[in-house]
Amino acid sequence: MENVTFTLNNGVKMPAAGLGVFQVTDKKTCIDAVICAIENGYRMIDTAAVYGNEEAVGEAIKACGIPREELFITSKLWFSDCGYKRAKRALESSLKKLGLDYIDLYLIHEPYGWLKRTWRALEECADEGKVRAIGVSNFGIDDLINITDDARITPAVDQIELHPYFRREELLKFLREKNILPEAWAPFAEGKNGIFASPILTEIAATHDCTVAQVILAWLHARGVAVIPKSVRPERIAENGDFFKVRLSEKEIAEIDRMDRGSSLFPWDKGIRRPLRKLFGFFHLAF
Ligand SMILES: NC(=O)c1ccc[n+]([C@@H]2O[C@H](COP(=O)([O-])OP(=O)(O)OC[C@H]3O[C@@H](n4cnc5c(N)ncnc54)[C@H](OP(=O)(O)O)[C@@H]3O)[C@@H](O)[C@H]2O)c1
Repeated sequence: MENVTFTLNNGVKMPAAGLGVFQVTDKKTCIDAVICAIENGYRMIDTAAVYGNEEAVGEAIKACGIPREELFITSKLWFSDCGYKRAKRALESSLKKLGLDYIDLYLIHEPYGWLKRTWRALEECADEGKVRAIGVSNFGIDDLINITDDARITPAVDQIELHPYFRREELLKFLREKNILPEAWAPFAEGKNGIFASPILTEIAATHDCTVAQVILAWLHARGVAVIPKSVRPERIAENGDFFKVRLSEKEIAEIDRMDRGSSLFPWDKGIRRPLRKLFGFFHLAF
């Protein structure tokens, strides 16, 4: 993988692509995938407390032979750890599991709970050098306005569901205006809705003599989005890391744009997010 980076709003350089390890619960599988990614030139790994694999990621980091400062490690705080003291404890726990003395990017995983208090704790962790950048995940425009109205530090990143079926132009426009880097989770829509067999993507891939996965990642990159595709298969890790060579035309980008269905593909988003938002709405406004 080429060493392509985005510069975050605090000046920190973040790789434009990395490996995601959601649902990689088997320890050896996780260690092997992270080491394989690093051997293929990846320098960014995306984990989270709730994935249960921070220890495995930490072991892979130790074993990989690449200096710590050349790697970019992201982890996330689950919503049950929201709150000022809880957030600080959660970061300590992630640091310990990862075996690190700092995390490069630490995100609030979901927009529920005592967000303002949590953000204040994260700002202090950034001041103390325990995290190089702080950000959020799954935050919409209202959530971002809520958290930033009295924040000292603007979130550096918003990690959100983004793929050809859900391109979220309005949110991306807002993020660009605020200088918050969008990062795509589920760039392949987790393989849903036959994305790898899409006629539009297949035809564009044939034109460029590349794969559908590479077309999707190139399309996200062209829109200024960081990507963290997940795979545990060495050949796919290599394939997904080798997309910067694909330069899509404006016409191809517009064709992929038209695949948008305008809503999330994930039941979690459709089913549970809304009641949770209502439940936690009080905390959003009050704290
Ligand atoms: N912040 C959040 O709320 C949130 C939510 C979800 C995910 N994430 C992060 O985003 C990362 C990526 O999202 P994701 O894991 O949900 O889904 P994804 O990257 O869209 O898709 C992963 C799926 O695609 C398969 N795959 C990978 N490369 C492929 C290729 N070249 N050709 C064909 N199939 C391929 C993988 O199978 P194999 O492993 O068998 O190759 C896996 O089944 C996660 O790992 C996690 O780090 C964050």
